[in-house]
Formats: sequence, structure tokens, C-alpha cells
Amino acid sequence: MKISSSFVASGLATFAQCAAVSQYQQDAAIEALSLLGRTLPQSPNGYTPSHVECPSSPPAIRLANSLSQNETEWLSKRRNNTVQPMRDFLTRMNISGFDAGTYIDDHSNNASALPNIGLAFSGGGWRALINGAGVLKAFDSRSGNTTNTGQLGGLLQSSTYLAGLSGGNWLVGSIIVNNYTTVERLQEDSTVWEFGNSILEGPPTGGIQLLNSIGYYSNLLESVSGKDDAGFDISITDYWGRALSYQLINATDGGPAQTWSSIADTEAFRNADHPFPISIADGRAPGQKILSLNSSVYEFNPFEFGTWDPTSYGFIPTRYLGTNMTNGQVNDNTQCVVGFDNAGYVMGTSSSLFNNLILQLNDSTLDIPSTLRAAIGAVLADLGQDDNDIADYRPNPFYGWNPTNNNYGVNSDSLTLVDGGLDNQNVPFHPLIQPNRHVDVIFANDNSADTSTNWPNGSSLVQTYQRSLGEISNGTAFPSIPDTNTFINLGLNTRPTFFGCNASNITVHTGSGQTGADVPLIVYIPNYPYVTYSNEPTVTLTTNDTYRDVMIANGHDVATMANGTISGYQNWPQCVACAILSRSFTRTGTIVPQACTECFTQYCWNGTLASHTPASYNPEPRLQEQSVASNIAVGRYHISVRSLVASAVGTLVALML
Ligand SMILES: *[C@@H]1O[C@H](CO)[C@@H](O)[C@H](O)[C@H]1NC(C)=O
Ligand SMILES: *[C@@H]1O[C@H](CO)[C@@H](O)[C@H](O)[C@H]1NC(C)=O
Ligand SMILES: *[C@@H]1O[C@H](CO)[C@@H](O)[C@H](O)[C@H]1NC(C)=O
Ligand SMILES: *[C@@H]1O[C@H](CO)[C@@H](O)[C@H](O)[C@H]1NC(C)=O
Ligand SMILES: *[C@@H]1O[C@H](CO)[C@@H](O)[C@H](O)[C@H]1NC(C)=O
Ligand SMILES: *[C@@H]1O[C@H](CO)[C@@H](O)[C@H](O)[C@H]1NC(C)=O
Ligand SMILES: *[C@@H]1O[C@H](CO)[C@@H](O)[C@H](O)[C@H]1NC(C)=O
Ligand SMILES: *[C@@H]1O[C@H](CO)[C@@H](O)[C@H](O)[C@H]1NC(C)=O
Ligand SMILES: *[C@@H]1O[C@H](CO)[C@@H](O)[C@H](O)[C@H]1NC(C)=O
Ligand SMILES: *[C@@H]1O[C@H](CO)[C@@H](O)[C@H](O)[C@H]1NC(C)=O
Ligand SMILES: *[C@@H]1O[C@H](CO)[C@@H](O)[C@H](O)[C@H]1NC(C)=O
Ligand SMILES: *[C@@H]1O[C@H](CO)[C@@H](O)[C@H](O)[C@H]1NC(C)=O
Repeated sequence: MKISSSFVASGLATFAQCAAVSQYQQDAAIEALSLLGRTLPQSPNGYTPSHVECPSSPPAIRLANSLSQNETEWLSKRRNNTVQPMRDFLTRMNISGFDAGTYIDDHSNNASALPNIGLAFSGGGWRALINGAGVLKAFDSRSGNTTNTGQLGGLLQSSTYLAGLSGGNWLVGSIIVNNYTTVERLQEDSTVWEFGNSILEGPPTGGIQLLNSIGYYSNLLESVSGKDDAGFDISITDYWGRALSYQLINATDGGPAQTWSSIADTEAFRNADHPFPISIADGRAPGQKILSLNSSVYEFNPFEFGTWDPTSYGFIPTRYLGTNMTNGQVNDNTQCVVGFDNAGYVMGTSSSLFNNLILQLNDSTLDIPSTLRAAIGAVLADLGQDDNDIADYRPNPFYGWNPTNNNYGVNSDSLTLVDGGLDNQNVPFHPLIQPNRHVDVIFANDNSADTSTNWPNGSSLVQTYQRSLGEISNGTAFPSIPDTNTFINLGLNTRPTFFGCNASNITVHTGSGQTGADVPLIVYIPNYPYVTYSNEPTVTLTTNDTYRDVMIANGHDVATMANGTISGYQNWPQCVACAILSRSFTRTGTIVPQACTECFTQYCWNGTLASHTPASYNPEPRLQEQSVASNIAVGRYHISVRSLVASAVGTLVALML
């Protein structure tokens, strides 16, 4: 018999009806599902978290003083799997006077000598999702023509880590949760990534999404009430995360049973076929205003949830989020909880700033069932307006944990998490600069709206740099970053720029045992117009497929500098290879090839400052001749009506991301 995933899923749901599913049954079901090779509807009871018997070795918090054993084991597979793609990639980049193939072969027995690459995708709503998609597509050797001359396909296959924040995490989640699909397939698919229908109306009907708007609203209401009725606190993020899932997750009703931890059960992840996905959110106590210097940055990875910061400084298994624990242990006579880490909820948590969009469901012109309006109103009444952007993680897994050091929420029943960009570190560097992860180079795609014209100006890097100097850094270091005026005045935000090229100039923490060469080189890839204005306001809710695809093409050009065709920058692909190899050269004592030295002179920020106030920043498409006139008009149109589009709430969103 051919066994289908819905068959197994319904089986799983059926025996979940019994009060508690045994761990054995659960494992067996997960095992069966994983044979299907796709992300798993792992939660036994759909969106509603379930109480199950704890496994024989119950979940517990561990100190954040090392990588988890699971990550370490997984890395040995992944690092090995990156060797061949990296060899192919570096060889193709054809660094003059340097034989990359021989270099890799000479060091392939010592994985730690080889480059360790991280990719980071910033927040910025749909703008970040779509521009980031173009960048990721350019890095993916599975995308058509990306292994041609001048192209960067294979960088994704060579990478070890993939971090996303807010809109950037919608991208990471869409790719990984959907069975490590491709951007191309997401563009072709008519059931996901259809942004013509806004999140307020729900998905287009047809395909796997059978609902009309009313069905969509009732489904949002039902799934969230189910969680509420089962005794879990709910927040606006629950509605938001469910709504997002319809756009991002390729499963009926947005896959209410898909969890973040179930990524770890997929065949692609188990084989380490793709980089390690990490989603970022910030801890914020009620009423607190967070800054990069006082936020706790939490990460969700397929194995664990927690923070490296000297606040909670611990991790618990992601799968058991929702389990009531005290001081790191499951309370006596308490069952474990699974299904709390719903994939849409995790994506919603990382982007909770957009909870505000859900509040627009109160708009009286929309035909919303009064029950849904009432339910949303009730959540708001509970929380108060100031905290409607939180995601409520109750019970707080870190309750009573590590009370001598944990100044964050140790006595609180709830752990309240907010959008990862709210501390202004809008590029998710945090998980990638942890010394335990030994990342050598971070490709950082920044789609922030820092300027009044919605372009990035390096602000996120400034925040992360400043944080690295403070007490909160807990051993993390970051290359020197100039002020945002310098970014604009020197054009560092108009093309890829490297930071931290001269490792000996990087300040590390005393006693950390690190040298500057242990701190990653940053390859900053800022959003810039090539064939269209790609500075959509953060609050843009709808984009038709034509415009979506033009933005993706623009992102492709941002990453590749138009496939290495821009005059004066034709060496860009070669210089990407040099950036990848830079720290490895230091470790292996290799003389830097002349071609790389030239790259570093050209692309590295060299310490020059130009801090005077810049003129207003309005870049024009770099490939004027290729830009479609109507698309340019579209871009202009959006800028000129920006003030109209932005409601009071929208302005807040636009200012922050
Ligand atoms: C998941 O992806 C793999 C590799 O592309 C493919 O072989 C498999 O059929 C996919 N599974 C599903 C359920 O789409
Ligand atoms: C490393 O990867 C290669 C394929 O690229 C494979 O043949 C080999 O078995 C792997 N080694 C280990 C130790 O996993
Ligand atoms: C590599 O670059 C050299 C010039 O530096 C050129 O002669 C050669 O054809 C290139 N090889 C490939 C495979 O592109
Ligand atoms: C790849 O290039 C060929 C030839 O130029 C073109 O016909 C095809 O459409 C391209 N494919 C993609 C996915 O860009
Ligand atoms: C969505 O799932 C269907 C069925 O498994 C598959 O054919 C399709 O390629 C998937 N779409 C994406 C974008 O992965
Ligand atoms: C990080 O913080 C924890 C908890 O405060 C502390 O025990 C640890 O020593 C710190 N690590 C570094 C490298 O400073
Ligand atoms: C780590 O791996 C072990 C063995 O495969 C597994 O039992 C455990 O659940 C994993 N832990 C997490 C947090 O995924
Ligand atoms: C967790 O368990 C403790 C002790 O059993 C109990 O007092 C507390 O109310 C529980 N918390 C939640 C959120 O269920
Ligand atoms: C797509 O959207 C743009 C901007 O809103 C609009 O100008 C264009 O006509 C739309 N195209 C289609 C095919 O609807
Ligand atoms: C770059 O290559 C991609 C993929 O082949 C192609 O779609 C795009 O048009 C190219 N861009 C330029 C500016 O040539
Ligand atoms: C450093 O960069 C600035 C501006 O980018 C340039 O004007 C200057 O010549 C460079 N200095 C050196 C020593 O290369
Ligand atoms: C070198 O380090 C100093 C001191 O931290 C800093 O001011 C300067 O900008 C750094 N230069 C570069 C190129 O990073």
C-alpha cells in the first residue's frame, strides 16, 4: 500500500484523541512520517498543543556554554557535505593565479581548516521576504542558470548556517519547512507565495486552500480557540502566525500541525542536505523598551530554543516548548507538552511587529464574523495596547532557572517574545557570531528601511557592533562598523561591502581565548535598485506575481552585481570566493593571492569615516536600460503614496524596520 502523509497524519491525530499519546507511539509515527521525506505535521492535535507522557529522559534546560550535542553531530555531517559544493563553487569563481581545487583537497581531511559559511536575512516585511528570495535564489545551484559564469549558485549548498529574522525568517521558513523547496518552485506554485490576496482576505481559493474569506476567518478563529480552550494563553501572535501560514506553508489550511522542531525529523535535515535554519526573536518584559544593549536575543533552531545571552543563558528542546518547568526541570506529576512550537507561530513570533496588521481585522468595511472580532478584542483587552505585539510563551520555560544570573523573567509565568528587529538589530547576526559556532564569513542581506526612502543604511550593523562592546555581548565580538552617515557618504550601502578584513584589527574580549581571525568577516549585501525600485514600504500588504518576480530578479542582481556585469565590479564573483577563503587562509597560513588582495582593497571598508550629514538618499536603478518602465513607475508610485499607505500603525512599523 502506498502510504500518504495525510493518512499518517490523520492516524496521528486519531490516537492523539486519547488523553496522552505515549512517547513510543509518537516516535513511531514520526518515524513513519519522516520516510515521506517532507516536513512533518508533527503536532498530534493540529494547532492545539498536546499533553503527552514525558520521554524517559525528560526535557531539561542546559547551560548555553557549548553547542548542543545534536548540533555538533549534525555539523560533522553538514561540514562534510559542504566540501564538494564549496570546491565546485570556488573553482568556478576562478580566482586568478590560485588553484582552489587543490587548496580544498589539501585541507579536506581537516574540516575545521575549511571555510564555515553563514547566511543572514534581515527583517523588513514582504520587502525583505521578496528581495531576500532573489538573493537566496542567486545562491542556490538548483535555480536555473545560476552555475553559469558570473553567477553565485552553490553558495547555499556550501553554507552551514541560515538565519532569518522577521520577514527574512518568512523566507527561511518557506524554504525549509516546505521540504527544502526552491524559490523558483515557490514562484511557480499557485498555492503559496500568492501575495495578491492580503493577509486580511486570506488565500486565493483553489488548490489546497479551499476556503473563501469567511472560511478562512472561521479557521483562524477555531484553531486559536482550540489552543485557548486547552488552557494555553493566547496572544495576537497566534492569529498572526496562523494567517501567515496560509501564505507561507505548502499544506492544507497552512499546515496547523507543522512544528519548527519537526524540521529535525525530515530526511533533508537528517541528511544535512541544507544549512542549519535559525529563527530570531527578542525577549521583552511587559512595558520594557528594548534596545540592542538590553534585549535578550532568543533563537529557535530545529533542536533547541533559548539564548546565549547572560540573561537566561540556556536552551531547552524546541519540541517541548509549552511544558511547565521550574529551574530547568519538568515539574513533578506534570506531563510534557508538544505541538506548541507551531511553525507559523515561530514565524509569527519573529515578526510580531506585524501583529498590528491583524488588528486591521477590526476594520468595519471587512466582512469579518463578529465572533472573530470579539475574540481578538478579548485578547487585546487582556494585554493592553502597548503589548499587543508580544508572543506569549506561557509557561515560561526559564521560570526559576539560574536565578543568580538570570535577570530576565526568572520569576515570571510568561516569557514574552517580540519581533527580532525591535532591538534594531534587524540582520540576524547574533546566532552566527557565537564563538561556539566558529563561523568564518557571514553573507548579510539587509533589506531594512532605515532611510525615509526605505533603503538600508547599515544601522543594523552599527547596533550589533555596539552590542558587541557591552556587557551583554558575553564573549561575542564583531568587526568595527562606521556610523550610518559614513555608509551613505561612502556608498557602502550601494554595493556589497566587507567589514573585518584585517583580522588583527578586531577587538576580542579579554580571556575569551579568541583572536580576531575567529571573528567572522562580514559580507554586507544591502538592498539596492537594479531593474526596479525594490524599496516597497514595510507595510505593503499585497504584491501581484508580476511585480513579485521583478523584485526577485532585482534581488538576484543585488547578490551577483548583475551577474558580474557591472563595469568596475566584474571581479565580484571572484571576490566572493576570496571573502569565503579569507579566514581559512589565515588559519592555514596561506599567502593571500594577489587577486584577493585586490578584492579586499576594493570591497573592504578601510576605516575611513565621512560622518557629515548626507543629502537625501534616492538611488536610481543601476540597470536603467533593462528596467521595465512600468515597474519603475510602480516603485515611484509607492514612494509617493507612502504617507497615504502608512497608517499610524504602519508608520511605526516602517520606522522600526
Ligand atoms: C521532498 O524533497 C525531496 C528532494 O527534492 C523529494 O525527493 C521528495 O519527493 C519531496 N517530498 C515531498 C513530500 O514532496
Ligand atoms: C563525506 O561526504 C562524502 C560525499 O561528499 C561521502 O562520500 C563521505 O562518506 C562523507 N564522509 C563522512 C564521514 O560522512
Ligand atoms: C579563468 O580565468 C582566466 C583568466 O584569469 C581565463 O583565461 C580562464 O579562461 C578562466 N577559466 C574559466 C573556466 O572561466
Ligand atoms: C536559462 O538560460 C536560458 C538560455 O539563455 C534561458 O532560455 C532560460 O530561460 C534560463 N532559465 C532561467 C530559469 O533563467
Ligand atoms: C507543494 O506540495 C506539492 C505536493 O507535495 C508539491 O508538488 C509542490 O511542489 C510543493 N510546492 C512547493 C513550493 O514546494
Ligand atoms: C556568559 O554568561 C554566562 C552567564 O552569565 C557566564 O557564566 C559565562 O561565563 C559568560 N561567558 C563569557 C564568555 O563571558
Ligand atoms: C537529540 O538527538 C537525540 C538522539 O537522536 C534525540 O533523542 C533527542 O530528542 C534530540 N534532541 C533534540 C532536542 O532534538
Ligand atoms: C506550572 O506548575 C506549577 C506547579 O505545579 C503551577 O503552580 C503553575 O500554575 C503551572 N503553570 C502553568 C502556566 O501552568
Ligand atoms: C501588478 O502590480 C503593479 C503595481 O501594483 C501594477 O502596476 C500592474 O499593472 C500589476 N500587474 C498585473 C498583471 O496585475
Ligand atoms: C542574471 O542571471 C539571471 C539568471 O540566469 C537572469 O535571470 C538575469 O536576467 C541576469 N541578470 C542580468 C542583469 O543579466
Ligand atoms: C579608503 O577608502 C576611501 C573611501 O572609500 C578612499 O578614498 C581612500 O583612498 C582609501 N584609503 C586607502 C589607504 O586605501
Ligand atoms: C580598526 O580598529 C579601530 C579601533 O577599534 C577602529 O577605530 C577602526 O575603524 C578599525 N579599522 C577597520 C578598517 O576596521
